[in-house]
Amino acid sequence: MDLFEYQARTLLAVHGVPVPPAALADNPEEARIAADLFGGPVVVKAQVRTGGRGKAGGVRLASTPDEAAGHAEAMLGGMTINGHRVRRVLVVPASEISAEYYLSFLLDRASRTFTAVASAEGGVEIEQLAADRPESIARARIDPRRGLTEATARKLAAAARFPDDVTDAVTGVMLRLWDAFAAEEALLVEVNPLAREPGGRVLALDAKVTIDGNARFRHADHRSLASRQDEEDPLERRARERQLNYVRLDGQVGVIGNGAGLVMSTLDVVADAGAARGGVRPANFLDIGGGASAEVMASGLEIILADPSVRSVLVNVFGGITACDAVADGIVAAFTLLEARGEPVDRPVVVRLDGNSAERGRRILTEASLPAVRLASTMDSAAAEAARLAATGA
Ligand SMILES: Nc1ncnc2c1ncn2[C@@H]1O[C@H](COP(=O)(O)OP(=O)(O)O)[C@@H](O)[C@H]1O
Ligand SMILES: [Mg+2]
Repeated sequence: MDLFEYQARTLLAVHGVPVPPAALADNPEEARIAADLFGGPVVVKAQVRTGGRGKAGGVRLASTPDEAAGHAEAMLGGMTINGHRVRRVLVVPASEISAEYYLSFLLDRASRTFTAVASAEGGVEIEQLAADRPESIARARIDPRRGLTEATARKLAAAARFPDDVTDAVTGVMLRLWDAFAAEEALLVEVNPLAREPGGRVLALDAKVTIDGNARFRHADHRSLASRQDEEDPLERRARERQLNYVRLDGQVGVIGNGAGLVMSTLDVVADAGAARGGVRPANFLDIGGGASAEVMASGLEIILADPSVRSVLVNVFGGITACDAVADGIVAAFTLLEARGEPVDRPVVVRLDGNSAERGRRILTEASLPAVRLASTMDSAAAEAARLAATGA
């Protein structure tokens, strides 16, 4: 579960990571009052669970309370960043920054351990830094049984070439950040930037935390951090209300399959085929499970097609207990149902049926001759066709 910055910074502060004071505001008036109370210039920050807010205009300096209210109004009046609507802003006293550093701890699945990452060249996104100046990034593996030792923290600070006069301060922040990571059972804690002020003090000006949902039962206090209904993706909410196993992603090919494993593989082959089509990607995960009734198929198609970025749909079904002819009947009935609801299927749907009664299923679809439907014989060819349709629209 990703936290908002305002939640993440509080969690880090509890473990002793130095953060500036801040006030959360729901409306421009609250932002004005906060700026007035802080006195002096403030930074108004959009609260969205995505990075790159600075570049998107979601982090703005205000020299007066009026200006702070103005920025809050602009952000709360419908600004979206990477598709995330801004519903609250954080007002923070502006720091004078003489340098920006980067620190993080994460569960590194590739190396099956915890990894610390540090750089004396923070401020920009780590992916960007890794691409531009990989030599500026230092990493260390952390033994989960021993945790981060001071010796390892100092070695990491030296490898990242922090200036000598901040080494002690940065090492102290690393140790506290590790405490937060371990105690909260996080998958990621990231401070970018850790800012150095002219006096030599260091301060976490931005915080990103992902906590491990699987450990939630051990953290009753995390329950209040869970996303509020109004912040949930509207399509995911609709899907949940219909008991569909749907997760929205950010691509263009809608995916429906039966069985979580098959759907995950389908996402992979679509991403693979899409890479050759200018970066077309899957738009969602949707597992319709064993039952592929017309009702379930119609609900699934309806939710997928309600996503405006979807340009083609791939239905990938391996018939087992639910035979492919039943799925095909479900698809045909779903088209009729959607038509009757005034929401006819208006984008191409590639269907791949295999396994139990696949032949009969394909015959049903051929005979129904639905203009939007195209049959594919293999998973790879189906993914290639869906990616092509999403890229070219025909
Ligand atoms: N309190 C602050 N005072 C001064 N500058 C800030 C403050 N908070 C953020 N900034 C500046 O804005 C940049 C982007 O803000 P940040 O919180 O890191 O958002 P994001 O990473 O989403 O772009 C920072 O790198 C920093 O230069
Ligand atoms: Mg940042």
